[in-house]
Amino acid sequence: MPAIVVVGAQWGDEGKGKITDYLAAKAHAVVRYQGGSNAGHTVVVGDDRYKLHLVPSGVLYASIECLLGNGVVIDLPELVKELRELEKRGVNTSRLLLSESAHLILPYHKLIDGLEEEARGSASIGTTRRGIGPAYRDKVNRAGIRLCDLRHASVFRDRLDANRKEKAGMLAGHGLDWEQMAAQQLEAFAHVEKQVRDVGERIESLLDRGANVLFEGAQGTFLDIDHGTYPYVTSSTPTAGGACIGTGIGPCRMDAVLGVTKAYCTRVGMGPFTTEAMDDEGDRLVDRGAEFGTTTGRRRRPGWLDTVMLRYAVRVNSLSGLAVTKLDVLDHFERVRLCTAYEAGGQMHKSFPADPELLKCVKPVYEDVEGWNCDTSGARAFSDLPQKAKDFLKRLTELAGVPVLLVSVGASRDATLELGDPWELRRGR
Ligand code: GDP
Ligand code: IMO
Ligand code: MG
Repeated sequence: MPAIVVVGAQWGDEGKGKITDYLAAKAHAVVRYQGGSNAGHTVVVGDDRYKLHLVPSGVLYASIECLLGNGVVIDLPELVKELRELEKRGVNTSRLLLSESAHLILPYHKLIDGLEEEARGSASIGTTRRGIGPAYRDKVNRAGIRLCDLRHASVFRDRLDANRKEKAGMLAGHGLDWEQMAAQQLEAFAHVEKQVRDVGERIESLLDRGANVLFEGAQGTFLDIDHGTYPYVTSSTPTAGGACIGTGIGPCRMDAVLGVTKAYCTRVGMGPFTTEAMDDEGDRLVDRGAEFGTTTGRRRRPGWLDTVMLRYAVRVNSLSGLAVTKLDVLDHFERVRLCTAYEAGGQMHKSFPADPELLKCVKPVYEDVEGWNCDTSGARAFSDLPQKAKDFLKRLTELAGVPVLLVSVGASRDATLELGDPWELRRGR
């Protein structure tokens, strides 16, 4: 009856959607616990490619219950649009449940997100402009509006009005139509009202009856508001602890945490990136990996796998094991680089520094592994991989300090090599 948390071990886009969908074959429920429509999780099933933003990557199985926890911020009209598009493609979305305590992203959050990004100028964060930061700020400031407020139109309108007054200065001259906004939210709510409930209670009852529950992280460890490369982070808690806070399930109920990492690294938006490859090799990573954002279409910044970061991700998430994705992207490189430590001013750093001023100065120390120079995308078992690719994964395992359980060599479900079954993981590592 495990509860498994799937967490991004880098800066997002590690392939969490693909891995969650793969593991969901044995799950009863998949729960999103943080973030909002800033997420873009691509799932490929046969010839079909789905780009999910708010809907958990479990929706493509007919029997799975999908839940959005209280920690998610919901842009209701966007959610309804996503549900309609899935329905149009024959996906049944009636098994989606939404936490009544989840906060709303409202049009003014998106507007403020954009205005603040403009105002930051060259210090911009490179947000997705989906209103994430302003929505979480309102939540913490106790000014947020929750799904349950929409059950009572007058309560909702009062809270909206309080926000209109509070934000009047900032929003002056931007022509927001508050009446239309209220009507649009109430209309979108009517579409999902029957699916709104106490999600924590539902998860608890599923776990009590022995169900397998997956908690699907969005973003990644280094975008975490507390543990990431602040201030170049998102405004939620993607790390494993967020799965408890964002769903109402206590930490002792979680059995295992699976970290998802690419065999290299990417980042979208601004902020430090020690192993960034701003050269031909980086361009090749982008080309071979099709590294363009699912949500904004932006080119992702490429670089090499950083095991200093990986060890930090192991600690802050208590990772039980790893899923390594996109190994196939490295197929035709003469050498593959693994960053093992950082160096600054003659000093070696084996752990990830929190101080951005230090992070700015460090240089990566690389260990180069010989490339395997052959196609791995057809591999369907670990034994199908060339020896040099196996050696790379062995070294990665040694440096990370936790086992690699899954290796992905393509976007499809069957391009997943299982070294161990994550559903067999049990508490403690
Ligand atoms: P997420 O946000 O962590 O779910 O990741 P994204 O979906 O944004 O980005 C990962 C991209 O890589 C998607 O387009 C996936 O279809 C694709 N992908 C996932 N695993 C593999 C893999 O092993 N090999 C290749 N070539 N593509 C993969
Ligand atoms: P998934 O779930 C990659 C990045 C943005 C920006 C920073 C803050 O697909 O892995 P925000 O809009 O959240 O305030 O932006 O975080 N970012 C992501 N990068 N993958 C994501 O999601 C991301 N969600 C946000 O690019 O740098
Ligand atoms: Mg993504």
